[in-house]
Amino acid sequence: MIKQDDIVDIKIEKPVYEGKGLAHIEGKAVFVKGVLPDELVRIRLFRIHKNYIEGKLIEILTPSKYRIKPICPYNKPCGACDFGYINYDYQIELKENILSEIFKNFDVRFKPFIKSDDNKNYRIKAQFPTSETKNSKRVLIGYYKEKTHDITDIKFCPSQKPIMDEITNYIRENWKLGCYIEKTKKGLLRHILIKTSNKTGDILLTLVLNITEEEFSSIKKDIETFSDCITKKFKKIKGVLVNFNNQNTNKITGDKTVLINGENFIFEFLEDKKYKTGALSFFQINPKTAEKIFSSAKNLINKKGTLLDLYGGVGTIGIFMKDAATKITLIEENPEAIKFAKENFKLNEILKYEIFEGRADNIIQKIIKEKKTFDNIVIDPPRKGSDDITLSNISKMTNSLIYISCNPMTLKRDAETLIKLGFKFISLQGADMFPNTHHIECLAYFKKEGEE
Ligand SMILES: C[S@@+](CC[C@H](N)C(=O)[O-])C[C@H]1O[C@@H](n2cnc3c(N)ncnc32)[C@H](O)[C@@H]1O
Repeated sequence: MIKQDDIVDIKIEKPVYEGKGLAHIEGKAVFVKGVLPDELVRIRLFRIHKNYIEGKLIEILTPSKYRIKPICPYNKPCGACDFGYINYDYQIELKENILSEIFKNFDVRFKPFIKSDDNKNYRIKAQFPTSETKNSKRVLIGYYKEKTHDITDIKFCPSQKPIMDEITNYIRENWKLGCYIEKTKKGLLRHILIKTSNKTGDILLTLVLNITEEEFSSIKKDIETFSDCITKKFKKIKGVLVNFNNQNTNKITGDKTVLINGENFIFEFLEDKKYKTGALSFFQINPKTAEKIFSSAKNLINKKGTLLDLYGGVGTIGIFMKDAATKITLIEENPEAIKFAKENFKLNEILKYEIFEGRADNIIQKIIKEKKTFDNIVIDPPRKGSDDITLSNISKMTNSLIYISCNPMTLKRDAETLIKLGFKFISLQGADMFPNTHHIECLAYFKKEGEE
């Protein structure tokens, strides 16, 4: 009979969601991180639950031929690239297998997986927490170590654009105004956000400070001096912003942001579409893969007509599909994204559009009262997926629904709801938006039964 902390040797059978390997002991499923199918591994039975066991890897006894030297020296302490030790083509094979496993009970056609052109330097955005060492007050900038709030000081990240490393290192060496200590809730610099354009290389830098807007006047001059220096050093920085967040919260940013110098936007391009995007509005992290997903999504539309872009951000997908739309309606809750969406519709010469600011479920409940219908709806919700109110109203408004998701588990839940609401799950395509991580982006297509 097995018990907690037993050491056992097991063979990994297959990958499951979150990139873990599945094996069995005494009929119980065991999940282990950092292992590959067919590997013989030594593990500690770290936690024994009623229906499954969590195992911790101790040693790989027979390594898989797909195991490579991790792409990053910080692979272990950082952990963000949890697939960084796997050959890239095999990462794709694993993601395809994981997706088919998650959706095995659905009657749906799987389309070929979309790979990322680049599996390095693809990220256009980084959000790093900052802190400092106790005695020497050395600045620390990086990601949290897994399940902790201890920062791994990352001087190099192969997933992001190299200039983001240079900016981070400059801040590490030149920031003299103190960093936030989570324990004491004291210290100034809490996070840095760097957002760049894949096409132009232009950059927005946001310093998240543990201070209120009122208190800011006392250090404004110092921040302006820092901002002048960093923009002189890095000509591609088009704007430096300060966000105020002195709340005891896990949220990275507070409600108020001010521009210190330059501009509060950069331009990104997907195919021939031009988008203004800001420091706090969402833009797809890997624009080249986003382009491929949106192009595949556009091909799903076989009747040009009215289009609802729900969870629309700065208008990215609706505008990308403008040739398939006679009028675009956008719903989005982030005020900054709404502001840029308005400008982006004009920039891309879209003549017929309407924009609603607010939560998807609230707005959709309002507009359904006007008996609005759409030839096509595209939704791209955050990780937690959509909700029953929104999905049920969508089902009354369209026969053709494109669902883009960054979380297969919430897509699965929403697909079950949509099927109950009368949609047929037509196709599912996986895509690699986040190489070297277990994350899988999905493009799903739903149609009403009986429709062509
Ligand atoms: C994954 S992003 C997609 C944005 C856009 N479609 C794109 O491709 O750039 C999700 C967007 O939904 C917005 N959002 C999140 N929850 C929302 C809600 N309940 N109602 C409306 N918008 C929401 C976020 O602000 C974000 O812009």
